[in-house]
Amino acid sequence: MDPAIRAIEDEFKSRLAAVRTAADAESLRVEFLGRQGKITELLGRIREIPSEERKAFGRDSNALKALAAAAVEEALGRFESTGGPEPYFDESLPGIEPPSGRVHPLTQTIHEITRIFEKLGFETVRGPEIETEFHNFTALNIPLDHPSREGFDTFYTDGGQLLRSQTSTVQIRVMQERKPPLRVLAPGRVYRPDTVDASHSFMFHQVEGLMVDEKTTFSDLKGILHLFLRQLFGRDTKVRFRPHFFPFTEPSVEVDIQWGTKGWLEILGAGCVHPNVFTAVDYDPKRWQGFAFGLGVERIAMLRHGISDIRHFYENDIRFLRQFP
Ligand code: DAH
Repeated sequence: MDPAIRAIEDEFKSRLAAVRTAADAESLRVEFLGRQGKITELLGRIREIPSEERKAFGRDSNALKALAAAAVEEALGRFESTGGPEPYFDESLPGIEPPSGRVHPLTQTIHEITRIFEKLGFETVRGPEIETEFHNFTALNIPLDHPSREGFDTFYTDGGQLLRSQTSTVQIRVMQERKPPLRVLAPGRVYRPDTVDASHSFMFHQVEGLMVDEKTTFSDLKGILHLFLRQLFGRDTKVRFRPHFFPFTEPSVEVDIQWGTKGWLEILGAGCVHPNVFTAVDYDPKRWQGFAFGLGVERIAMLRHGISDIRHFYENDIRFLRQFP
């Protein structure tokens, strides 16, 4: 093919690919097929072509004219009806839902708990998982040789630190950093060297609460925990306070709720902050009073959702997780 024809054909094709509107197609037609159009001029030159090449030149340039005319016609037909760009996106069709993640059921439970307490003026705070003996034991009135320490079996690190075995550590950290009055809630992971089975894990979650003020009493603790447990488990939930012992509170209680046919179930530990704990963080125990409580997140999530094995929470089995939208 004559290089002049080839060049014009190439140019036409690339211009055609850029056509977006009927007006584009029309100006393409004028530029190539109009009276002074590039293809029209090509045809006008047939007479000047040496006779031995004229036949081929005539055939090729006429073929290009036919191709261009058909393409312009097609483009005009395509764009004229809409008068605008070809609709490549139909916004009236239902969308394609992208796959999305979900919030883990334990995180959902923590959110529900913190939401209730935030309405009562409790701020959600965090503390480190690698802790000192001071924060996990000593400041909580659990001396190193105290027999109650055996109840808090603990992972120790080589450097003399430990993985916190309770979120009560955060009570100490907050009181060291702030002046009273305060109301905080501290959710997080805790670790204990327990053999894993349906109800035990070496890692689980707790939420710790602490309120300190000048006249915070045991009846405030009872009122707030009643309110909390009824919001979480239902308005008619029966709540029972049972005397207990914790080193960091005095008096101390365990709190039960009545749960269907299972009867009374222990749900959390609580009490009034022990004066020795205040002394450990340089709060004056004669001036400040407070209460604290601690609850297990897995236990609450298992009760509310009827989950029978704690290991479901940690196995990342999508068939389990997608049941918590
Ligand atoms: N730290 C306790 C535990 O892990 C739970 C607890 C009991 C926390 C009584 C408290 C409390 O703040 O007052 O078993």
